[in-house]
Amino acid sequence: MATIGAVTKKFYIETFGCQMNVHDSEKVIGTLVNLGYQQTESHDEAGLVFYNTCSIRDKAEQKVFNILAHYKKQAAAGKIFGVLGCVAQQEGERIFERAPHVSLVCGSASYTKLGDLIRQVEAGNRRVTGLSLDTDETFDTPFTRRDNPFRAYITIIEGCDKSCAYCVVPFTRGPERSRTSASVLEEARRLADSGYTEIQLLGQNVNSYKDPSTAGWDFATLLDAVGNVPGLRRVRFMTSHPRDFHKPIVDAISANPRLCNHVHLPVQSGSSRVLAAMQRQYNREQYLERISWIKNSNRQMSITTDLITGFPGESDKDFEETISLIDEVQFDALFIFKYSQRPNTPALSLPDQLTDDEKGRRLTILMERQRAIQIVRNARYVGEIEEALVEVYSTSNNQWIGRTCDNKTLNFSGPVGDAAIKPGSYQPVLVTRAGPNSLVGEWAPRA
Ligand code: SAH
Ligand code: SF4
Ligand code: F3S
Repeated sequence: MATIGAVTKKFYIETFGCQMNVHDSEKVIGTLVNLGYQQTESHDEAGLVFYNTCSIRDKAEQKVFNILAHYKKQAAAGKIFGVLGCVAQQEGERIFERAPHVSLVCGSASYTKLGDLIRQVEAGNRRVTGLSLDTDETFDTPFTRRDNPFRAYITIIEGCDKSCAYCVVPFTRGPERSRTSASVLEEARRLADSGYTEIQLLGQNVNSYKDPSTAGWDFATLLDAVGNVPGLRRVRFMTSHPRDFHKPIVDAISANPRLCNHVHLPVQSGSSRVLAAMQRQYNREQYLERISWIKNSNRQMSITTDLITGFPGESDKDFEETISLIDEVQFDALFIFKYSQRPNTPALSLPDQLTDDEKGRRLTILMERQRAIQIVRNARYVGEIEEALVEVYSTSNNQWIGRTCDNKTLNFSGPVGDAAIKPGSYQPVLVTRAGPNSLVGEWAPRA
């Protein structure tokens, strides 16, 4: 038990960034609780404060330094500050210079050593680091503290072996490391046995998965196997890289209703010229071919993507090709980011950087265009019965909030307080209205 006198030592953790980080924090929390620490939601009462950070864009990185500056005085009272995650890995020991009250810096590839590092700080060592990327280990633990009682994440692959010209992830997460299929399936079975019905398989590029055991499974085989674990009703996955997106993945989803009919396939740009400069390893035609596999499936699927506006050298003509791509594909949702210059990345030194205003102008054009597309896309659900996984009852608009299999938010009216509808249950809902970002409906129990 980690104690100061008779009091169990409390830690506070705040998480930024992607779902990989959210899930890493669940694993870190479980690991610390297992070591005898107690989690607190109060920054003030914690003896240990961790920030699990994101470095994907400059703004995300600045956030943690602003917070650290804000709480600087508390270090004088004996509070220990630790920086985890992608900013930790990227900035390393420079963090001690920028924020001298930090005493622990640890990247995600070193989380198996986190307990030891904390012990070193508690023993009086003022500056400890876990920064090696030279590892083939993954961070697997049976102690994960999951927040959501019916939806669980499972990391199947860590790191990234691609080298997109704009991206810090290969530097912050290290080389690709896949877990064995047996250990993924074992975790999925354990989760199903303890009542979870939805699983999300996670990785920077889940479909680059390569089973390191002799079974040698690829992603489609693993996905299908997880979809067949008794007790699970929905299996999602995030994110897929277009280069490694093969048709057997679509075939697996088409054949197994427990695999969710949603594919997030980040395209980044509609211009083959820009895609080559980004080193994405596919061109517009190859991306569209993958989209055609998904669209030609016998199962209706939703398709979402990420886009970057204003990559260095992106001309008006290149940008128009991105507009024409979103018109052609008719995505269900877009996540659009203004290009952000990142340390160590090849694109940092490219000429023809665009102004922030121009990146913003292009982003707004795409958002407006996409809003109209989503209104039409979502209208196709009106009059249909959809199955919603119920998340929570919203007292602000007196509706249940649910999620469809293809990942749309579905708000619906239905009884409250009796046993019929409760969070974590699956309910049939008649969709009566559709907006650009969500669907609205009424509970429609089968007679
Ligand atoms: N591995 C995934 C992406 C993970 S990062 C893939 O390759 O598709 C999530 C998203 O952040 C990316 O898809 C990209 O759109 C965005 N992103 C990454 N680096 C960025 C940068 N330097 N500036 C702006 N957006 C960036
Ligand atoms: Fe970044 Fe590219 Fe790796 Fe995605 S595939 S994490 S964008 S380097
Ligand atoms: Fe951010 Fe690291 Fe995820 S940079 S997006 S937290 S992999």
